[in-house]
Amino acid sequence: MISKESLSQLTLYAQGIRLLYVEDEAQIRENTRLLFAKFFTDIETAANGEEGLALYKKGAFDLIITDILMPGMNGVVMLQNIKELNPNQPVIVTSACEESSYLLELINLGVAQFLLKPMKTDQIIQVLYEVVRNIYNARKVEEFTANLKQELVHQTTLLEQYKEVVDISMIVTKTDLSGDLIYANDAFYTTSGYNWDDIKAKGETILRHPEMTSEFYADLWETILGKQTWHGTIKNLKKEGSYYITDTTIKPILDEFGNIIDFISISYDVTELFDLNEEIWQTQHEMLSLLGEIGETRSEETGNHVRRVAKYSRLLGQLYGLDDEEITLLYRASPMHDIGKIGIPDRILLKPGKLEADEYAIMKTHSALGYQVLKHSKRPLLQAAAVIAHEHHEKWDGSGYPRALSGEQIHIYGRITALADVFDALSCERVYKPAWPLDTIIEFIQSERGKHFDPNLVDRFMDNLDRFIAIAQEYKD
Ligand code: C2E
Ligand code: SIN
Ligand code: SIN
Ligand code: SIN
Ligand code: FE
Ligand code: FE
Repeated sequence: MISKESLSQLTLYAQGIRLLYVEDEAQIRENTRLLFAKFFTDIETAANGEEGLALYKKGAFDLIITDILMPGMNGVVMLQNIKELNPNQPVIVTSACEESSYLLELINLGVAQFLLKPMKTDQIIQVLYEVVRNIYNARKVEEFTANLKQELVHQTTLLEQYKEVVDISMIVTKTDLSGDLIYANDAFYTTSGYNWDDIKAKGETILRHPEMTSEFYADLWETILGKQTWHGTIKNLKKEGSYYITDTTIKPILDEFGNIIDFISISYDVTELFDLNEEIWQTQHEMLSLLGEIGETRSEETGNHVRRVAKYSRLLGQLYGLDDEEITLLYRASPMHDIGKIGIPDRILLKPGKLEADEYAIMKTHSALGYQVLKHSKRPLLQAAAVIAHEHHEKWDGSGYPRALSGEQIHIYGRITALADVFDALSCERVYKPAWPLDTIIEFIQSERGKHFDPNLVDRFMDNLDRFIAIAQEYKD
């Protein structure tokens, strides 16, 4: 029995399917056509093979249902012709028992479905259901494939457009697992000045600028071999000897199993930006040094005082493990630590002897004063200088000024400059005090470990005393 569901299912599958029905007996043709019309909206009929073939040649059909024995061209010959035009043409053959001699030939032609005459409605529907469902599914697969193809074309076009944009503005290279160049776009050749053969002959390391350390590249490779994306700034060597600086992202390309195929590197040339930034830095540095020297001159400290404090601070920063950027900031900003002394009257600043309590109170305002002068700038260098001016007289145990901060509340720049400043102040003569002998200074600094000074910094200082003494000697007054 045919269920209602499969009937409505058949109607659904049959939508848009073009049916060609070939039958020579007018009565059967008409009755069967009426049955088909319950499901199919697009039916053509033919009375023999010639007619059927002619119709087929005019417009393709999704399904052919044909009788075998017919006057003129029979069904078998018609199907042979049609299969030549379309080997995959779905066909149902209606046959009477006496026509079974044709069956083998029809099976060879790829006919898979037969309806035995006289045909019963149930049987017709059952066979139609199977064939039409297959056609429907095949059609869906075809549509899906076509969409997929179209999507692929679309994405390829997009990719090509992206590539065009990228090629105009960025340097793109691909590198294999051992670091050998396997692709570079025009921007790479134009920027570096090298050509493919140069790189192939000497390896990609000819691009390495002497300022770039081997640890830098070791770290880069560890990141990308660990399947992570690396991002950073690289200084590279051009063929003609100058350099270019790139903001670079290197991404490992993985296959479907997560294995690295190769690395793609995308870079912006930021040389101009970088040089401009360097110029701004330089200008600020000169401005601040000038200010520092003015302060120095007034308190009659020697020009070498700020230079030594800068060198001690940088060394302490390195020993402490600050990163390169912080060390540079500290080096350039620490000469400013006493800039607030500009606001201290001469009678106090230049007093040959010991300060009275009220005079010392005024003297101590120099750290807050310096901070007030410098704090308004957004520039990292001036911000660092503001912090240093503010905090270089704070003490680890909280007994310093102006805010009595303690421990790591005091910015590392302040803690470092405090030690550098006192080491230097004690090493030289001031209007109010003679220079101390070195062993007295060292004894004093050790006695202030964990009181005035960050104990960690005192340990680094003690472990590297030679290097501090070398700086003191090199920049002697
Ligand atoms: P500065 O001369 O650059 O000294 C910086 C810091 O080094 C001082 O900060 C202090 O911590 C240390 N220091 C310098 N000399 C001595 C010393 O003889 N003994 C000890 N234990 N530590 C010393 P401080 O004390 O906050 O002073 C800040 C600034 O005030 C000094 O800068 C200096 O310009 C001025 N100042 C301090 N005491 C006197 C003083 O007795 N007479 C005069 N004229 N100025 C003083
Ligand atoms: C390098 O080793 O020079 C960086 C790797 C790359 O450019 O892909
Ligand atoms: C340089 O080494 O001078 C610039 C490159 C960088 O800091 O990354
Ligand atoms: C530091 O104290 O190590 C620096 C942290 C900061 O930038 O405030
Ligand atoms: Fe000071
Ligand atoms: Fe000082």
